[in-house]
Amino acid sequence: MAEFIISHAALQRNAELLRRVAREGDVHVLLALKAFATTGCLSVLRPYAAGCCASGLYEALLGAQEMGGRLAVYSPAYEAEDLAELVKIAHHLDFNSLGQWERFAAFCMASPRAQSGEMQFGLRVNPAFSTGKTPLYDPCRPGSRLGIDIASLPETLPRGISGLHIHTLCEQGAQDLIDTFHAFEKNCGFLLRDPSLRYLNLGGGHWITQEGYEVEKLVEFLRGLRQRYNGVEIYLEPGEAWSIHTGVLRARVLDVFESMGFHHAILDVSATAHTPDVLEMPYRPDIFLTEKNGSLCLSRSTAQPAVQLPGENYYRAGQAGEMAFTCRIGGVSCLAGDVFGDYAFPRALVAGDILTLDDMAHYTIVKTTHFNGVKHPGISLLTPDGALTSLRRFDFADFKNRLG
Ligand SMILES: Cc1ncc(COP(=O)(O)O)c(C=O)c1O
Repeated sequence: MAEFIISHAALQRNAELLRRVAREGDVHVLLALKAFATTGCLSVLRPYAAGCCASGLYEALLGAQEMGGRLAVYSPAYEAEDLAELVKIAHHLDFNSLGQWERFAAFCMASPRAQSGEMQFGLRVNPAFSTGKTPLYDPCRPGSRLGIDIASLPETLPRGISGLHIHTLCEQGAQDLIDTFHAFEKNCGFLLRDPSLRYLNLGGGHWITQEGYEVEKLVEFLRGLRQRYNGVEIYLEPGEAWSIHTGVLRARVLDVFESMGFHHAILDVSATAHTPDVLEMPYRPDIFLTEKNGSLCLSRSTAQPAVQLPGENYYRAGQAGEMAFTCRIGGVSCLAGDVFGDYAFPRALVAGDILTLDDMAHYTIVKTTHFNGVKHPGISLLTPDGALTSLRRFDFADFKNRLG
């Protein structure tokens, strides 16, 4: 059966670096639950994160129940019923438009936790400074609905507002943050200097745990900000950075055949249902042919997947034509485009082979569906002693119950 496997040790490795950034940069680093919210893994991250960033009521409840710490909520729009719950648990509530703030300001400010200072309110601003490469993930793209347009900003922070929030990055480096902040400072410096400002949230998209990220540059920048805006607390809310290189999706080959000039392999997973970013972004995941010790007659490549099980060998598939057998790797749904891509393997694939799809913890498990009635992969945690602990199995009842 197909399975997402998350590595406890890899989560800890990422978390340690993020905690170091928080300490050395003198900032709060939250976990953005939108990227990774596997309940059974949150206890691994809890000791390292200052709390959570939630996109709405459900993530906020999960964060409050499973993570604790600070809870920062931002949603493109709030429903009144959700706000009535959020004011009981959130520490920051950030609003996407002046209209929503004006509509709910009196209600929010009257709540006991706001009166005691335990909860504060902020505005998301769109600095209109794009540094990203993928329009789907660029909140500063022309016509964006995310954040208040610079031209519509008030001259001073509205009464009751003490926070500013910007989120513009996706899988980006420290210099992109610095450049964005300078643009923000140039256009919105009057708000940053407003005496009511108490917190500044620099959003997510900081690829801090990716190889090559300039961690020292980030820390130096954050320390500089803390000095320049004395008395303003700084928050980062990365999602991916907590969970990149921590998980894989193990799939089985169900069938291999030739059609219309191609070798095809059909897996027991689906790109559209289980790894939708492969089609949406789109991107090409690394795939490893996975064999028990000794049975793979070719040498292993040096690249290895994020999670390796004891006694297994992993052979990284290449680009089409690079090795003996090129095959189109397809999903099990009947969507014509449910294809992971064309990959080359050192030998012909056969039914029953195991393929390991790499780096499948972030923005995958949170996005899965039961589209086409496809079976949902299980979710397991690889603990430091090498044992696999099953966190969740899905069955027909999960499919049936979700659809009403
Ligand atoms: C407001 C906000 N904060 C944080 C994040 C997390 O970003 P990432 O997972 O790229 O670090 C996102 C991602 O879309 C976001 O929209």
